[in-house]
Formats: sequence, C-alpha cells, structure tokens
Amino acid sequence: MRVVVKRAGIGQVSGAVQVIGAIEGEQRPERLLPASVARDRALVGLIQRSGFRGASNETTLLPKGTGWVLVVGLGKSKDLSVERVRQLAGTAARVVRARGLKQVALPLLSDRMFGAADAVAQALIEGALLGLYRYDHLRTVPAHERNRRIDTITLVVERAADLAAARKGAAKAEVIAEAVLFARDLITGPSNIVTPTYLANQARAIAKEHRLKCQVISFATLKRLGFGGIVGVAQGSVHPAQFIVLEYRPAPRPAGSSRRGRRATKTFAFCGKGITFDTGGISIKPSAKMELMKYDMAGAAAVLGVVKAAAALKLPVRIVGIIAATENMPSGSAQKPGDVITTLSGKTVEVLNTDAEGRLVLADCLHYAKRFKPDVVVDLATLTGACVVALGSEAIGLMTKHEQLASRINQAGQTTYERVWRLPLWDEYGPAMKSDIADLRNVTNTGEAGTITAAKFLEEFAEGLPWAHLDIAGTAWTDKDKPYIPKGAVGVGVRLLLSLMENWK
Ligand code: BES
Ligand code: ZN
Ligand code: ZN
Repeated sequence: MRVVVKRAGIGQVSGAVQVIGAIEGEQRPERLLPASVARDRALVGLIQRSGFRGASNETTLLPKGTGWVLVVGLGKSKDLSVERVRQLAGTAARVVRARGLKQVALPLLSDRMFGAADAVAQALIEGALLGLYRYDHLRTVPAHERNRRIDTITLVVERAADLAAARKGAAKAEVIAEAVLFARDLITGPSNIVTPTYLANQARAIAKEHRLKCQVISFATLKRLGFGGIVGVAQGSVHPAQFIVLEYRPAPRPAGSSRRGRRATKTFAFCGKGITFDTGGISIKPSAKMELMKYDMAGAAAVLGVVKAAAALKLPVRIVGIIAATENMPSGSAQKPGDVITTLSGKTVEVLNTDAEGRLVLADCLHYAKRFKPDVVVDLATLTGACVVALGSEAIGLMTKHEQLASRINQAGQTTYERVWRLPLWDEYGPAMKSDIADLRNVTNTGEAGTITAAKFLEEFAEGLPWAHLDIAGTAWTDKDKPYIPKGAVGVGVRLLLSLMENWK
C-alpha cells in the first residue's frame, strides 16, 4: 500500500474515492469539509438530498461523474477534534475497501478546526492504516477478499503552504502505524508460535534493523543471577523464559553541540509484561475464554513497538525496553501456592496465587531498570482482571505518585486517544500485600482493590524510580470493532508512549 501526499484540488485525484467530511446537524453547505466543497453546488445538493445527517462515522457513498464520493460524518461541531479525524480516516478506508475500490483520497481537513496541519495529516494516515489492519498470516485468504485491498491512500492538500507539514505528519504516521501493527501481529499470534523465544528473536530483528543493542538473558542465567520472580513463573513451562533488554540511543549530536546538551538526553525505561500464555499456573484459570490469554504479552509487544518506532523516527531520547517473556503453565515443575521465592531485589514473596504472575516477573524488570538510572520508568501490563471491571475497554489504569509524570501521561492520552484514568496509590493499600512468613504476598486475602494492590506490590520494587504503572488488561484487546481498531489486538500503548517522549521537553 502506498501513501501519497499531493497538492491538488478536492476531486482531482482521478480513480480515487473522494472522501468528504460532514458536520452533524447543520444544513448550510459549509458543514461539508474541506470548505471548498461548498463551491460544487451539484455535489452539495446531492448530499443534502441523500438525507445524510453527519453523525460520527455515518457514511454514504455517492456516484459522481465516473467515480465516487464518500461522505463521512464528523459528529457535532462542538465535539470536533483530531480524534474525529482519525476515526473518519479509519471509517473511510474500510468502507472503500469493503466496496472493492482500490484508491482513497483523504482531504487535509481545515487545520483551524482540528489542529495543526502536521497533526491532522498524521491522524488521517494513522486512522486509515490502523483501520485497514487484518491478520492474514495463518489462513488461506479467499480470492475475492484478496482482491479487496486498497493500493493507494492519497492525502490531498489544497493549500501549498500546508504541503511540507502534511508530508511530515504523513511520514511520521506511516512509521507509527507500522509499529502498532507490528505489536498487533505479535499479540494476535497464538502462543504456540509467539513463544518467549519468538519475542526475543523479534527484539533481535529490531536491533539488527536499527543497529541497537539487544541483550537476551537465558533461563539458565536468570536462575544463576537470582531473577527469582521470572524463574518462579517460568519453571513450569517447557519454553525457556527470555529476559529481553533492547536499548536505543540517539546518534551523537554534531560537533559543536554543548556537553550540557548531551547530558540533557533523557533515559526512558519501559518494562513490558510478556506472558505469552497465562493459564494461571497451578491456580488454573477457568477454561471459558482462556484462549484470550495469548494477549497477556501485550505490554511486551507495545514496548517492542515503541522502540522500533522511536529508532525509525530517531527520537532524541535514550530508551531501554525491558521485557520478561515467559509462559505461565501448570506442570510437575511449576511453582505452587504457598511457595516462597526470592526476587532479584532480594525481597521474598509468598506466592499464594500462581495466577498473579505478572507482578512477579515485573518485580524483576523494575529492579533491573534501576541500573540504567532512568529519568522515567513506565511499565505496561495486562495485570489485573479487576482493571477490566473498573475501567472496561476505554481507559488504561494509571497509577503513580509522580504528579508531573501523571499529567504528562494524561496529556499523551488525550493527544493519542489512548486515554488513561488514574487510580490512587495511597499507602493505606500497602499492608494488604504483606506476608506473615515473607516480605510480601502476591495477592491480598480480601480481593479488594485488585488493580491498586497489584500496583502497590510493584511499587515495592520501584523504590527511588520516577515510575508509573499502566494496567492495560481492559484496553489491549477489544471485542467491538472501532473505526481504526478492528476487533482483536489493539496495540495500545505504542502511540501513547511515543507521544509522551515526543512532547517531553
Ligand atoms: N493476565 C491476568 C490479568 C487479566 C485478566 C488480563 C483478564 C486480561 C484480562 C493476570 O495474570 C491475572 O490472572 N490476574 C489475577 C490476579 C488475582 C489472582 C489477584 C486476576 O486478575 O484475576
Ligand atoms: Zn495470571
Ligand atoms: Zn497474566
């Protein structure tokens, strides 16, 4: 699929379905966007007569000359935002593909209403590329479906002054969308294929592509070095655990740049939960919907996607991706309820429920992160079912004591629409994680505040770090089709963390 940015008038891309946006509930021709459409009286009349209202993501495909016009609703004018634009592009691209048409022309919508030209261009291309995602690696695609694919997405820029910004935004969107789709592929991939070793090989491939440093610590070494959290979880599986450290450093600044400039480079450590399948272990899960537990490595997938995109975009920050990849299996060698393990930090944990394994592997990741002296640490994990209950699939659970980091992550959530919602990390929640015979227990005995108490457990291993925890259990997978997120793996977190770094300053 090609993405082309072109200066042209609306309707001048021959062979392409021309997309037009329409604001809801207004009758005047100016409700159609871009504004130049109003000059085409015949078209305005056609749309007016079609009874099209303009509700968000409502569509109507109308014949015009030898081609087509696709009108997509933007919702009410008071609700216009970059997110509406992203959704419009996703909706449009999918409708065009479903009709068997090959080319789509998206207008760079008026920047005054939605944001700067580069941001609007980025949203349009992201929306289209993310919306068109399909996972076709493991099935025979029937011929009629194989032919239903878009070959060109054209971003139509009316004003020459916007061209450079539009090109920049579109190019960035291509890189970011590729990283999100990469994460989606890993998450959708079943656990017999996407094993811990597979994840390690993906990290190695990213390192090779962008000349990054990649270290993979083997299961035998993890045992020897005292990574008790990961080892405890991994010991029941025949697939050896892999501890993955993928590091991106920006190219040195050109000569003449100050020392101060170099020292100002921030280090971000991103820790990802990489449970390639979570059966629950000996505390085994019910069989209903257990197949979904292949997505318990969505945090790890996001971390890999972030590093991949950051390296391609040459972001001026250092990033260390830290991933604990393992299965959580019941077997003769699996850890058992009541076992006490010694984590990398030296703290001991009474494992009262082997299904609360994410926090065990993340404990070692967070402790390991300390050696990089990071300026920011964020972990991403499909950590608790309680988070699904509390926030559903619209908000990521955010827990941190770091006010400034919270507000920056919140801002990134607004920008990308990977929205976060903060839960408290008050110290009163801490004692529930204390054990009588070890330093900590891995579950409470009440079941109260499951998402928060899991975070309190993690906090024990993040001492001294400027740390935030993101629980993506509810947001990493979706059962409903959304305009640019088809049912299934979301790839959540990739755009969020890239935006966080990009706007750091
Ligand atoms: N991977 C699960 C959490 C999860 C549940 C993710 C549903 C996505 C959807 C995690 O390892 C887990 O099993 N957590 C337990 C913790 C409990 C035993 C304290 C849970 O949430 O039930
Ligand atoms: Zn579990
Ligand atoms: Zn899990």
